[in-house]
Amino acid sequence: MIVDRGDASWRGRVGVLTDLLDSCRFEPADTIAMVCGPEVMMRIAAHALANRGIAEDDIHLSMERNMKCAIGVCGHCQFGPSFVCKDGPVFALPRIAALLATREI
Ligand code: FES
Repeated sequence: MIVDRGDASWRGRVGVLTDLLDSCRFEPADTIAMVCGPEVMMRIAAHALANRGIAEDDIHLSMERNMKCAIGVCGHCQFGPSFVCKDGPVFALPRIAALLATREI
């Protein structure tokens, strides 16, 4: 367990979630990663997982957004050329890697 900031009673680790990846043991070829959370955290986690050797096709991110129509009509959930409501919400990293690097998309 890790927290961004701990109070005086916290005895665990302090840092960012991706710091925990360094201590995780896994066989990259046998690993599939499912990532959810704030987009900045997912972007950093996805790159950290790829750097640990997990194939980018095996890294999946949940791009949940506020939705309105849920049938790909209103554009409320548009994420680049995709609509999260009908094309996602889970995308493999290669499909959205360029979008993750784009601010405010
Ligand atoms: S919620 Fe309307 S297009 Fe996705």
